[in-house]
Order: sequence, then C-alpha cells, then structure tokens
Amino acid sequence: MKSSGIRWTVAIVTLLALAGGSAMARRVYLDAALLRAPPDAIPGRRDLIRYAQGVAEPVYRSHCASCHGADLRGDPVRGAPNLADSDWLYGGGSISQIQQTITYGIRSGNPKGRSLASMPAFAHPGSEGREKVNPLTPGEIDDLVEFLFSVENRPADSAAAARGALLYSDKGVCYDCHSRDAQGDQAIGAPNLGDSVWLYGDGSRRAVFNSIAQGRAGACPAWGQRFGPALLRAVAVFIYAKSHPLPAT
Ligand code: HEC
Ligand code: HEC
Repeated sequence: MKSSGIRWTVAIVTLLALAGGSAMARRVYLDAALLRAPPDAIPGRRDLIRYAQGVAEPVYRSHCASCHGADLRGDPVRGAPNLADSDWLYGGGSISQIQQTITYGIRSGNPKGRSLASMPAFAHPGSEGREKVNPLTPGEIDDLVEFLFSVENRPADSAAAARGALLYSDKGVCYDCHSRDAQGDQAIGAPNLGDSVWLYGDGSRRAVFNSIAQGRAGACPAWGQRFGPALLRAVAVFIYAKSHPLPAT
C-alpha cells in the first residue's frame, strides 16, 4: 500500500517534470525561431506571432501601458505616441525599427538611443540645453499656428497663415527638421505637422502654440538591458501585430 503510494507519487512527479520540461523546450525552440527568422518575414508566420503575443502582452501591461495606455493608444498629456496606428515618429513601423526603438529608447541616455533632434523652445531658445534658434515673439508663434492649421486644411486666418509660411521657411527654420512640406522626418523623429495626429495635446491652437513656445523632448526608456533578445523581438512583434493588418495564412 505504502510502496504503491510512493510509486504513484514518483510517476506523477515525473509526468509533471516532463510536461514542464516540454513547455520549457517549446519556449526555447520558439525563442530561437523568433530570433532566427528575418524580422520582416515574421508577419507571415502565424505560429511566431501567436507565441510573441502571448509572451509580450503581460510585459507590455507591466512596463509600457503606464505611458502608452492599456489599449496602446498613447497619452497626449505625456506625449506618448499611439502604438496601434500607422503613424510612426521613427522609421516606418517595421519590426526591426520598432525593436531598435525599444532596445535603445528615445532620449533615454543610452548612446545608441534615438536623440538626433528635439523640438526647440522658440519662446526661450537655448533653455534646458535645447537647440539654439532665433527667438520668436508670441505674435510670430500665433502666425505659425495659423500656417499649420492651413496646412491641415483647417479654418485659419489667411493673412496670419501667409506670414507663418514665411516664418516656417525663414526665421523659424522649421523646415530643417519637419521638412519643407511639413510632413516631418522619420529619421530624426520630427512629427508630421500636416496630418491630424498630434503627439502633444489635442491639436488646439493653444496646444500647438505651447509646443512651439516651450519645446518638446519626449523620452522612452531603453529596455535592452532589462529584456533578453528574444523578449525584445517578441515585444516588437506584439506592437507590429497591433498596428498592422496581418497577411491571411
Ligand atoms: C515613461 C513613459 C514610457 C514608458 C514606460 C514607455 N514609453 Fe515608449 N515612448 C514614450 C514616449 C514619451 C515616446 C515618444 C518619444 C518622442 O517624443 O520621441 C515613446 C515612444 C515609443 C515608440 C516609438 C513610436 C513611434 O511612433 O516611432 C515605441 C515603439 C515605444 N515607445 C515602445 C515602448 C514599449 C514597447 C514600452 C515598454 C517596454 C515603452 N515604450 C515604455 C514613453 C514611454
Ligand atoms: C531641431 C529640429 C526642429 C526644429 C528646428 C523644429 N522642430 Fe518642431 N519638433 C521637432 C521634434 C524632434 C519634435 C518632436 C519632439 C518630441 O517627440 O518630443 C517636434 C515637435 C513639434 C510640434 C509638436 C507636434 C505634435 O504632434 O504634437 C510642433 C507643433 C512643432 N514641432 C512645430 C515646429 C515649428 C512651427 C517649428 C519652427 C518654428 C519647429 N517645429 C522647428 C524638431 C524640430
């Protein structure tokens, strides 16, 4: 009686170990597959997407949701971008570009972080180590706001918008970062100013004025030291899958 009880215990423990071992072996196998696959071929791999989603979702909830929101839709008060749309500050939203951002961060202090440019504070240039630019008066900033409204096809004061257009390409040197057509520059994280997507605030005159007057320099932490390579890839795949239609397989 006693020895058969022991035998049962041994059998159960062995079964559990095998099951646990095989789950672990599966995880090791899928981590390796995730790293081995060319990142931009992963969207065609349902098995890897499903695995990455399972691994990354709890990590997103505990490490990213506080800034980017539980639904990934961002936070305009903090300037945390929506990660579920097709509008990217940096790069075009490929898995490798997303992974680079997550690994090294943005203005994170990591030497490989994305930090080529920040939005200067045009009302107090040079403050807080920001880029030195020509100072602009509140009236000039108002003109630039009207110009940006007109670029977006929103109702704007046309005389002020014409003055703002000149400031944009002359004294303000805005074109240098946001491009001549105000479509932004994803190599340096300068947002498109001609679409209706706003990183900071609600796109009102006041919010746009504040961005120009006070400057902006949002930061995303670098996660490369905290997550292993497979988890970094999994989180990038998770965000990609939330922001792109996946091919039917
Ligand atoms: C402390 C707040 C904070 C946390 C936590 C945070 N982020 Fe960010 N993240 C930001 C901000 C702010 C930006 C925008 C930086 C800028 O203005 O360029 C950003 C930008 C990004 C971008 C670039 C988006 C684009 O449009 O190019 C990605 C991708 C990203 N974060 C992913 C993550 C992931 C994944 C996590 C969790 C592992 C995370 N972030 C955690 C604040 C945060
Ligand atoms: C040195 C490069 C640089 C220059 C010059 C520059 N910007 Fe920016 N601007 C940026 C960057 C980078 C950001 C995004 C900052 C961030 O992500 O925190 C930005 C953000 C903004 C925003 C906020 C956009 C949003 O979606 O909320 C506005 C508005 C803006 N810039 C307008 C202007 C105007 C108008 C000028 C000229 C007077 C100008 N910028 C000049 C780099 C620049």
